[in-house]
Amino acid sequence: MLIAPSVLSFDYTRFEEQMEILNEHADWLHFDVMDGHFVPNLSFGPAILTAFRQNTSLFLDVHLMVDDPEKIAPLFLKTGADSITFHYEVYNDTEACREFIRKLRSYFVRVGISVKPKTDVEVIKELLPYVDIVLVMSVEPGFGGQAFLPDSLDKIRELKEYRDEHDLSYLIEVDGGINEETAHSVVDAGCDVLVAGSYIFKNDIADTIESLKKVR
Ligand code: DX5
Ligand code: ZN
Repeated sequence: MLIAPSVLSFDYTRFEEQMEILNEHADWLHFDVMDGHFVPNLSFGPAILTAFRQNTSLFLDVHLMVDDPEKIAPLFLKTGADSITFHYEVYNDTEACREFIRKLRSYFVRVGISVKPKTDVEVIKELLPYVDIVLVMSVEPGFGGQAFLPDSLDKIRELKEYRDEHDLSYLIEVDGGINEETAHSVVDAGCDVLVAGSYIFKNDIADTIESLKKVR
């Protein structure tokens, strides 16, 4: 199980202190990039990623919640993103998603595709051989601190089954409303990477990450 704390809940007034703990305990760092259009919230730009990149060798996992990922992705690739995940709903079209995945591949970066809670996994199945990560949103994207939507569990199971049946290798990542209890359910269902924001940063960061790692 990989644990990816979501930087959306990071306390920037305690940058060094929190960074040190994350460097020791986290597996990935998850960055929620929001443009105020695709989602009703605005987060941060590439300069933030530069600051983290200069202070960590952790895998930087960038989740783009933006209308124009073609314009935004290169900015984060230049500043040290290790993966770029974009939303199927930006295009709502398999061929357009496939084309964008091809473009991302030319940067030699890991590529992820994400679906919102109301989007069926069915619509991305043709794309699954071409991605490294599938990010299942278990809350409506936009804000931290929302309650986990249990329908996500069926999506995780379906993605795991599909991966086994087709001998694929993408990681299944789950994002939104993760805490000790929901972590057990998503791990049971087949999740590989747990994103957690408020649960980690509102508690003791080190202990919470370690307890999530032990979830089986
Ligand atoms: C929501 C973001 C999440 C968010 C998760 O749009 O994609 O990554 O930070 O926050 P919690 O863990 O608080 O639900
Ligand atoms: Zn996210």
